[in-house]
Amino acid sequence: MNARRLAHLLGNWRRHGSRHGAVDLAAGLRLLILDGRVPAGTALPPERELAAALDVSRTMIATAWERLKADGLVVSRRGAGSWTAIPAAGGGGEPEADQENIDLARAVPPAIAGIAAATEAAVPRLAAELCSHGYYEQGMPDLRARLADRYTARGLSTTPEQILVTNGAHIALAIALRLFTGPGDRVLIEQPTYPNAIDAIRGAHTIPVPVAMTEVGGWDFDGIEATLRQAAPRLAYLIVDFQNPTGARLDEAGRRALGAMFRRARTPVVVDETSVDLDFTDEPVAPFGAFGDVVLAAGSAGKSYWGGLRLGWVRAPAEIISRLTVARRGLDLGSPVFEQLVLSELLEHPREPLLDRRRMLVERRDALAGLLREHCPDWTFDVPGGGLSLWCRLPAPVSTRIAATALNFGVRVAPGSFFTPHGGLERYLRVPYTQPVDVLTEAVRRLAAAAASVAESRAPMAENGSIPVT
Ligand SMILES: Cc1ncc(COP(=O)(O)O)c(C=O)c1O
Repeated sequence: MNARRLAHLLGNWRRHGSRHGAVDLAAGLRLLILDGRVPAGTALPPERELAAALDVSRTMIATAWERLKADGLVVSRRGAGSWTAIPAAGGGGEPEADQENIDLARAVPPAIAGIAAATEAAVPRLAAELCSHGYYEQGMPDLRARLADRYTARGLSTTPEQILVTNGAHIALAIALRLFTGPGDRVLIEQPTYPNAIDAIRGAHTIPVPVAMTEVGGWDFDGIEATLRQAAPRLAYLIVDFQNPTGARLDEAGRRALGAMFRRARTPVVVDETSVDLDFTDEPVAPFGAFGDVVLAAGSAGKSYWGGLRLGWVRAPAEIISRLTVARRGLDLGSPVFEQLVLSELLEHPREPLLDRRRMLVERRDALAGLLREHCPDWTFDVPGGGLSLWCRLPAPVSTRIAATALNFGVRVAPGSFFTPHGGLERYLRVPYTQPVDVLTEAVRRLAAAAASVAESRAPMAENGSIPVT
């Protein structure tokens, strides 16, 4: 990786007023390595070049690299240079003795209880499939029929021809990008949004155009309308059900208003429905597809049943599904038969296992909210009616520093900047409630310790968090 690129990724790595540049630089690179933005095995630029790109001394770079070597995150060989690594024990930093690392960076629950029974029930059905070729480009007919029924039951009449089974909701976005966009096109997104969607958009050589969510209620209708007019995006990607990370849900009037806007602008919308089943309110809102013309609803088995099934689907007008089915050929040729049979079994009894899952998540959500109120009383958040995480507002713009410091306390957590294409959102931290309550209890204890350590080392700032300049 060249020095300019690394300097760009490091961004605003230096703490305001800090005299410990090497410590800050090490923390910045540690975070990039552990969240995968600088993959393990990446060759680091020569110290001299990076020193010039960051406008610091070469000694500072060498000292920072020494710290990371002690953690096993950087290795060097004389004459061969330095490159990044993941330490064998994982996690990095210096967790307390015997301390297990806690992963709060992934907001995904474990498998649903009924998965083993569904797997057993799928085995006899597999035998009947073995004499076929096993390639179902659009998905197995029985599974598509069950998924279509689900939409019809949600108030959006759907036939199996309107369903494409995919290998997860994430690839559905990649397929839609193939179909609707070309290099340099713009794609409207919410800010904050799901980080892997930003990667998919960039990976398709398209440009994410963020519209900031509002602090109350969520969607900025005027901002979206202006962006449709001024940026003429070729595609939009929205998460209207328990948005990741804010937890906000767009109400029916909002769906109607946005649906009309996208229809007028003729902009196709990928609506990410991965969290739609994680609704604790039991007050369903009609699917977004009921309000727009070209709406591609991307669903997933991941959060409802199990991420390891790696199955998702798209619900769209039949003509769009045919074109998506052709477009997917450049990426893959179908989804695994056995997993489709398992999902089909799970969908036969859609309600009961999901009710258990919701009960469990409500208990964990409330426990996490209570723990944060007790141990991090100056963090604020809305308690969402569904989804998997709390979007916490911090008293100062220190999210990345808390996330970097938390690694030393044995917690991985995603700072606000991960959820934007251009950095920022330093006042926000996403804290998921997918882990058991005893793990959450320990995680919050460590997060509070990390936040306290950041607060202690913080240069004095004005009350409102701005940097006083004279
Ligand atoms: C908002 C959102 N969309 C998509 C995905 C990925 O879904 P899948 O595992 O079905 O590819 C996730 C996973 O966490 C997610 O949070």
